[in-house]
Amino acid sequence: MEAFVSGGAGGVGAAAVVGVFVAAAVVGGFVAAVALAERAGVIAPRKRPNAPPGQPGLNISLSSLKLKAMVAKFSSISTRKLSKALTVLTRDKSMVATSDYGDFHKMVKRYVMSSTLGTSAQKKFRDTRDMMINNMLSTFHKLVKDDPHVPLIFRDVFKDELFRLSMIQSLGEDVSSVYVDEFGRDISKEEIYNATVTDMMMCAIEVDWRDFFSYLSWVPNKSFETRVFTAEARRTAVMRALIKQQKERIVRGEAKICYLDFLLAENTLTDEQLTMLVWEELIEAADTTLVATEWAMYELAKNPDKQARNICYSVPAHSWHYQPKRFLLGVFLVMPGTALPRNPEVCGDETVTEEHLPRLPYLNAVFHETLRRHSPVPLIPPRFVHEDTKLAGYDVPAGTEMVINLYGCNMNKKEWESPEEWVPERFTGGRLEVADMYKTMAFGAGRRACAGSLQVMHIACTAIARFVQEFGWRLTEGDEEKVDTVQFTAYKLHPLHVHLTPRGRM
Ligand code: HEM
Repeated sequence: MEAFVSGGAGGVGAAAVVGVFVAAAVVGGFVAAVALAERAGVIAPRKRPNAPPGQPGLNISLSSLKLKAMVAKFSSISTRKLSKALTVLTRDKSMVATSDYGDFHKMVKRYVMSSTLGTSAQKKFRDTRDMMINNMLSTFHKLVKDDPHVPLIFRDVFKDELFRLSMIQSLGEDVSSVYVDEFGRDISKEEIYNATVTDMMMCAIEVDWRDFFSYLSWVPNKSFETRVFTAEARRTAVMRALIKQQKERIVRGEAKICYLDFLLAENTLTDEQLTMLVWEELIEAADTTLVATEWAMYELAKNPDKQARNICYSVPAHSWHYQPKRFLLGVFLVMPGTALPRNPEVCGDETVTEEHLPRLPYLNAVFHETLRRHSPVPLIPPRFVHEDTKLAGYDVPAGTEMVINLYGCNMNKKEWESPEEWVPERFTGGRLEVADMYKTMAFGAGRRACAGSLQVMHIACTAIARFVQEFGWRLTEGDEEKVDTVQFTAYKLHPLHVHLTPRGRM
């Protein structure tokens, strides 16, 4: 297999700063285009006989790199490297996703998995997820009944319910308003959403040009700083108010099963760490699941033939192939690998639930193909090589920054036939091996693999199946080519407008 190398050759001298962007990795069925940007410094890099080539656009064969080798390397490349904006917004790495790999990261990742995102923790929020999906369906029905000719805006409905789930899971309740000392007034749920989610996603992509020229970091960049620090202060004020409100609930003796109550009981964190971790769960749960589901519904609305009939085909319960497994990368897997059966069961009148998911191969294929074509996290947050290591056969020195370009990998013509087309059938028919299902690397890999992959699968797959069971989906005319994205997590630039036709099940 091949992957691409981009960038320019370069050395780093006291005066000249030339970045080296390197390569990509193929990992036993996993492909990752890895752009490695050598850190600018004042000392020239050591001579590296096997340094990655630096010619722009050079193709190299990387098939020798095995999955095991890549996973083994994660101990050397699991430290985060943040932009200035992210350093400010994450309070210098006080979160699971942005902390350096070490004792703090291990502890807080364990916390988030045991409290809310791991397999058994997810069971505690099953009712909340079901409520969320039922509420969305009721709203769709109501909107269609009110005016069947007006297209509805998918995101408006999904966003509200997802944020409700996110609040219940992280704070213990669906907060409708909160008094913020710093603002001197109550703020609404929408304002909470804007301060903790929307503004943060916008700020996360703020670029400070000094990130690229560290030796000029003394030059002021006031407008950047004002924007980022103001948004950060608002977010922190709102989070403190939300946590204060919930602490009052706990004092009243109303303990809840949620992340905040869990962290308070652990009693190992500073107030700042606690605030940041609760915010992390709030934003992570409220964002990418919406992105992935909206893209899936866009593609299904564009391809009516791939809706209910295919999605609800299931394989027999005794077929172990589709039992969920935990794979060695820590990523939740549903095993693919068999063709759709000749006489499949069709869910028919039976409402799809999470229990059905392992037996709905086409639905899983829709999910994974959507993650490939519309990577919700197109670039894996930068990592930092903290010890000399070998990657994809190349010597990579400590101090190298690494960005995995998932979008680039997933649109690579050498890896995917007609990559610009959305074709779930790539993931059915027994053509792929187990590891290939995660060839998209949508959830990263290794020790830093996504903590929320199981939750996303539960919500997105059940929602997609229920949505197409209940309604026929059709795009608004002229929306077929609206595939542009915006923000850090590949939001659809043009929110999905759809016409829904009830299938007469309710
Ligand atoms: C479609 C939805 C999602 C996608 C595509 C996604 C993707 C990713 C990716 C690519 C990473 C970085 C992995 C790496 O560096 O190798 C990551 C990390 C993470 N994600 Fe997700 N994610 C999704 C949803 C979620 C949700 C819903 C949550 C929580 C509610 C979540 C929590 C996290 C956390 C805590 C980390 C940091 C893990 C660590 O550093 O150890 N993610 N995710």
